[in-house]
Amino acid sequence: MRIIASTVATFALAGVAAAQSLPPPGATSCSGCHGTELSLEPFSAEEIVAALAAYRDGSREATVMDRIARGFTEEEGRAIAEWIAENRHED
Ligand code: HEC
Repeated sequence: MRIIASTVATFALAGVAAAQSLPPPGATSCSGCHGTELSLEPFSAEEIVAALAAYRDGSREATVMDRIARGFTEEEGRAIAEWIAENRHED
């Protein structure tokens, strides 16, 4: 299971590198809620991926993120997390 997950992650990372800074599908939807007050900027890509996984499997309590996380596959979530981490504002 872990081996499969990390293989998928490697492919997803390669895809993100190839796509440069174009937002992956779904990435821009996050900012509607995660603007300033619920900002995702302090989080690393790994932390966002882990949070999405925990929301998806129900191990982390949520009001809405469980449903949102289930709308994305692990690869999609990773692509979004990488994009958020790479495009954070430095201010
Ligand atoms: C409808 C509003 C909404 C949207 C859209 C949304 N989120 Fe969230 N997010 C929340 C709320 C509210 C929480 C707090 C947990 C909860 O109550 O569900 C949260 C929590 C999180 C957390 C954990 C933050 C922490 O402090 O630990 C992460 C990571 C996250 N969201 C990522 C995302 C990503 C990535 C997307 C886009 C795919 C996204 N969210 C889209 C509302 C939203």
